[in-house]
Amino acid sequence: MAVGAERPRGLPPRGPVRLTSQLLAARAAYVLRGNDLGTMTSAAPRLYPHMWSWDAAFVAVGLARLSVPRAVQELDTLLGAQWGDGMIPHIVFNPDSTGYFPGPERWRCHEGVTGAPPYPATSGICQPPVHAIAVQRIVEAARRQGRTDRQAAGEFIERAWRPLVAWHRWLATKRDPGGTGRVVLHHGWESGMDNSPRWDGPYARVVVGEDLPPYRRRDTEVVGDPSMRPSDREYDRYLWLIEEMRRAGYDQALLHERMSFAVEDVLVSALLAVACDVLADIGEERAQPAADVADLRAWAARSRAGVVASVDPVTGLARDRDVRTGEWLASPTVAGFAPLLCGGLPRAAEAALLATFEGEDWCGNPGLAAAVPPSTSPTAGAFRPREYWRGPQWPVLAWLFHWSFARRGWAERAAVLREEGLRLVGAGDFAEYYDPLTGEPLGSMQQSWTAAAVLDWLC
Ligand code: SER
Repeated sequence: MAVGAERPRGLPPRGPVRLTSQLLAARAAYVLRGNDLGTMTSAAPRLYPHMWSWDAAFVAVGLARLSVPRAVQELDTLLGAQWGDGMIPHIVFNPDSTGYFPGPERWRCHEGVTGAPPYPATSGICQPPVHAIAVQRIVEAARRQGRTDRQAAGEFIERAWRPLVAWHRWLATKRDPGGTGRVVLHHGWESGMDNSPRWDGPYARVVVGEDLPPYRRRDTEVVGDPSMRPSDREYDRYLWLIEEMRRAGYDQALLHERMSFAVEDVLVSALLAVACDVLADIGEERAQPAADVADLRAWAARSRAGVVASVDPVTGLARDRDVRTGEWLASPTVAGFAPLLCGGLPRAAEAALLATFEGEDWCGNPGLAAAVPPSTSPTAGAFRPREYWRGPQWPVLAWLFHWSFARRGWAERAAVLREEGLRLVGAGDFAEYYDPLTGEPLGSMQQSWTAAAVLDWLC
């Protein structure tokens, strides 16, 4: 379903209910506190009762506005589950919750997989590296607070420095064996954008083995309308890839050889570039080892160059690449704007990409209820306004672009994203994602990272 120009802009997303900023912030804090399990925050109370890696980073950004020590605790918990080789796993399982599939018994990483911690149980894949952004936000929040918070943040950086460098090193080396500057993923879940049209081609080539162990989905039982979630066909492939990894013992070299899904992800690569630079800045400020800082700068430069090299000369959007076929993947998704996050484009190309971002195929589409980037262009054939990463707007992505634009010195553009992001979430449901055409909240409600984004915007 592609969308033309029919809906007037400037309407609130739905109905008359819009909370005042004060009430919205209070509700956001209530959601984060309600999802707090003690030393970790569940990504969402019913659908995602564990800790997810990139969720945890965004959650820490929000928590920093409430309590610096609690924000630090969130990252400590995540880093406590880091693998020996440096990978931060995409899920840290809460031992007190069983209501999620696939759980530890499907991954079986804690049963002696080399490098995996025996406790807590984790998944065996990664997620986008946005953690350094959270560290920076914690440092900034601490600076505005008293001495105790500044001390908590300083001590955290001392103990987290090596694990954080190890995590970025793992991405830049183990996941970029060819040195292209683009991070290789072996599961769509690693991109965080599970069923994005970005991955339709590579997934179409995944042949599900007949010996895929049977399973029962839980997500569609929680989210009542299955059309808001990936299809069963997609889920079979997700589960099959876990099977392939498990059989390869989660050995990174074997994964590169054997996995039937291998893609270079341009958004993860841009985030790696940004994260390495942010961490290097922190390291310089705090007199961390110069060799680490130099490595981080080098990884940032290489990733940035890898992102720039992926740009489609016709559309100006960055593209992923299917490692197995060598082809560039050019579906019009929000990942195409990766160069706006990490920079590196020539000035004219960057101006053109910004114009596309703000133009009617994207944020400026007159059919949108709020002018933040939809996950897939509303004028694309692949656009599905209610289907997870195939069209909905995700407030956390609006926050990420807002933060990046502010970092790049585009204050006005950042302010627009903040204002429009708040318009999207103004009714206070803190949904996982929203229908871009109607503003209807979709997926899981009381999503922690949505509340965290709102807190950062409002406090
Ligand atoms: N995003 C996946 C899910 O929906 C897990 O990482 O379950």
